Amino acid sequence: MQTDAFLTVQQHIQEEQRRVNPHASGEFSWLLSGITLATKVVAAQIRRAGLVDVIGSAGTTNVQGETVQKLDILANQALLSCLGNRGNVGLLASEEDEEPTVTLRDPRYGKYIVVFDPLDGSSNIDVNVSVGTIFSILRRDINGHAERSPEADVLQPGIQQVAAGYVLYGAATLFVYSTGNGVHGFTLDPLIGAYVLTHPNLTMPESGPYYSVNEANSASFPPGYQKYLSILREGKAGRVYSSRYVGSLVADFHRTLIKGGIFLYPPTGRYGEGKLRLMYEANPMAFLAEQSGGVATDGHGRILEIQPKSLHQRTPLAVGSRREMSLLAEVLQSAPAG
Ligand code: F6P
Repeated sequence: MQTDAFLTVQQHIQEEQRRVNPHASGEFSWLLSGITLATKVVAAQIRRAGLVDVIGSAGTTNVQGETVQKLDILANQALLSCLGNRGNVGLLASEEDEEPTVTLRDPRYGKYIVVFDPLDGSSNIDVNVSVGTIFSILRRDINGHAERSPEADVLQPGIQQVAAGYVLYGAATLFVYSTGNGVHGFTLDPLIGAYVLTHPNLTMPESGPYYSVNEANSASFPPGYQKYLSILREGKAGRVYSSRYVGSLVADFHRTLIKGGIFLYPPTGRYGEGKLRLMYEANPMAFLAEQSGGVATDGHGRILEIQPKSLHQRTPLAVGSRREMSLLAEVLQSAPAG
């Protein structure tokens, strides 16, 4: 999907901002360049995994009780330091840290909040499989600010995201984002060190050939999900499906965005509320899915309308093409509660 005009992500966001507001100050593109810079640092380390000592566990666990990989720490530090001095980011909330980091207390200056998962699917690094960085950008509410804790500032439903995106460290390094005007993808050109527009106006196909779920958990899925999956497997949904599951949300979502189909992480015996995190996994993906013509739900309603109660809250997630998602809604509605 090579485009004729050579356009970097910085130029693209500046043009987008000017289209919406001819007097845009450029500070949003400055914020975004903090993210692109950090992800180039991460990409450089990933590309050298095995040659430099970045593979494996750091010997600690994070707030989720999950093993922290060395690259998790590196990616977290890269994002914190590249975004912490932008001058317009007031709060940074990371998967790796229990509480948000306050970089600018006054919301008139620190207008933006960036919520991120610095390295999603990081255990895949050990086996040279794709991983990703996910981010969600929110605006800080100035009203009544003095009475709110930093966490309360962050707890906004996904519908209020001003931008969201991810970087997929795969065969190529891809930056995919939306500010609410469609979804655009950029490939990191390692020779010039810039993300170049390669996937303008991405649209998720109306239907697709893949379903993506951790089937090992299927015995403990609620009955509706089990029924839905058996309908797909038995070819009763009007087409033949293949299953694909990487175990890195960014990679599984990216395939779903490009090829269509459905990705699911339902409630399981181990994770009654689902495993994925609402604020830095489900919300950004739901924003991108809707912006590209797809649908994202927690099995009951729209992901983007969930009012978060805590930063690290989990949620079930089903995201994908309109046709697969509408069949899921139908099946879940008619199934007994699990
Ligand atoms: O939340 C972290 C994560 O690695 C996601 O990237 C991925 O979708 C999911 O967990 C995989 O979980 P499991 O190994 O339980 O299938």
